[in-house]
Amino acid sequence: MRDSQLWMLLLALVLSSSFLVATRGFQGDGSSFKTSVFMSPPFNLKPGSVGDKFYYDIPFPRGHIALKSFFAEVVDDNGNPVPLYETYLHHWGLFRYYGEEGAVDDAGSSKIIFIRNSGPCGNVGQYVGIGSETRKTDTWVPDPYGIEIGNPAEIPQGYQERWLLNVHAIDTRGVEDRLGCTECKCSLYNVTVDARGRPLDDGYVGGLHCCYDQTQCRVKGGFNGGARKLYLRYTMRWAEWIPSMIPVKIYIFDVTDTGDRPSPSNSANTQFGCKVEYTVPPCDSVGEANGKCLDVKRAKVVLPHGGDIVYGVAHQHTGGLGSAIFGEDGRPLCSSTPLYGNGEEPGNEAGYIVGMSTCYPKPGSVSIKDGELVTVVSNYSNAHMHTGVMGLFYILVAEPRPKLNTLLSQGLASPWFTELAGNWWVLALAGLIMIVVVAAVFRKRNESEGYERVNG
Ligand SMILES: *[C@@H]1O[C@H](CO)[C@@H](O)[C@H](O)[C@H]1NC(C)=O
Ligand SMILES: *[C@@H]1O[C@H](CO)[C@@H](O)[C@H](O)[C@H]1NC(C)=O
Repeated sequence: MRDSQLWMLLLALVLSSSFLVATRGFQGDGSSFKTSVFMSPPFNLKPGSVGDKFYYDIPFPRGHIALKSFFAEVVDDNGNPVPLYETYLHHWGLFRYYGEEGAVDDAGSSKIIFIRNSGPCGNVGQYVGIGSETRKTDTWVPDPYGIEIGNPAEIPQGYQERWLLNVHAIDTRGVEDRLGCTECKCSLYNVTVDARGRPLDDGYVGGLHCCYDQTQCRVKGGFNGGARKLYLRYTMRWAEWIPSMIPVKIYIFDVTDTGDRPSPSNSANTQFGCKVEYTVPPCDSVGEANGKCLDVKRAKVVLPHGGDIVYGVAHQHTGGLGSAIFGEDGRPLCSSTPLYGNGEEPGNEAGYIVGMSTCYPKPGSVSIKDGELVTVVSNYSNAHMHTGVMGLFYILVAEPRPKLNTLLSQGLASPWFTELAGNWWVLALAGLIMIVVVAAVFRKRNESEGYERVNG
């Protein structure tokens, strides 16, 4: 009788200490998350002008942390959000890198080491990065997952983890053709060479090679508008990294990916398999007659390491009708469709993509196998021709955690045990209470035995 009571007590103790550890780990109430708001350096844009800026070593949350969500928007000198029809946010991206400690200028340094996302495209390296849709797109990484950054064990000696911000914005106040300027139509930009001075390819009608930094889109005659100072205001939500969090890998797929990669012997070759942008040709007469002006683009990409999809979202430009990814057997993995604005206020600008729908599969319900061939599909309306459009798909993947047997053989390396070890005081307390209880029970037993003896 007393023995079973003792075991119940011990069981309750063990359960309650585990429960304490688990709830601390999951942080379900969100109370331990921090929010940091930063401003990029100012950039000046006048009507029709383009800014494509790269800011190294920007202000960013430091330390070993989990990134949980982000937000960004273009604001003016008074901090007021600027609508997309005045300043079109073509894209912005955050790139993670290690820079030398004490370095003054990372921009000119050959010593910096970029930490790319885990996706297959060498020229799409950002960790975080979207465009006009930022204001109404969910970016929250669900618990217990997080984008792990700043792990001191991974940062090389003499280096520091830093972030590079790229902002590409087009001022379309007073321009002749707003959509044309935002689609970087070469005919509106009066350029014949790209940003590096190389002549444009024959037949290149629009895209980033025509709207690089300091290019100028055609403005209506007689339009008067001054230059203005703008900023990207970006907000990061994050938490201190704790071992019970599960890190996710970032994969960015590109629907223009042909699978071709520069060979190591010819690494100067810039003809990557990922073109990032593409042209949507106008609908043919058959499509027009059927009222089906739809351009469907597909790519097949291999995911070397699989896992559970935790979050997914696509990136498309105006004209986009939705994008999806599928597994090798055709099962749907995630789809994401654009939200078009229908008003004037920032976040709801008519005709612009102001948000993208996202996927949050129930943890463990949607997974990709190691080496699985994933199909990316991007749909655009081709009722009009579009230039410089994108079809990116961004997913967060949690790789399977070690199984119990490997977990035991790895001993204290697993997050669970590390977390327990980090909470040594819980164990110590549990141990202490156990000792007290055991001692009390044994004393009681001795007393009662003595009592019985006296009476026996
Ligand atoms: C186009 O560029 C050329 C030189 O690159 C310049 O002479 C010409 O004035 C420009 N045209 C317009 C309309 O800006
Ligand atoms: C893309 O278009 C095809 C053909 O109409 C359609 O079956 C599919 O559902 C579309 N996908 C998305 C994500 O919109």
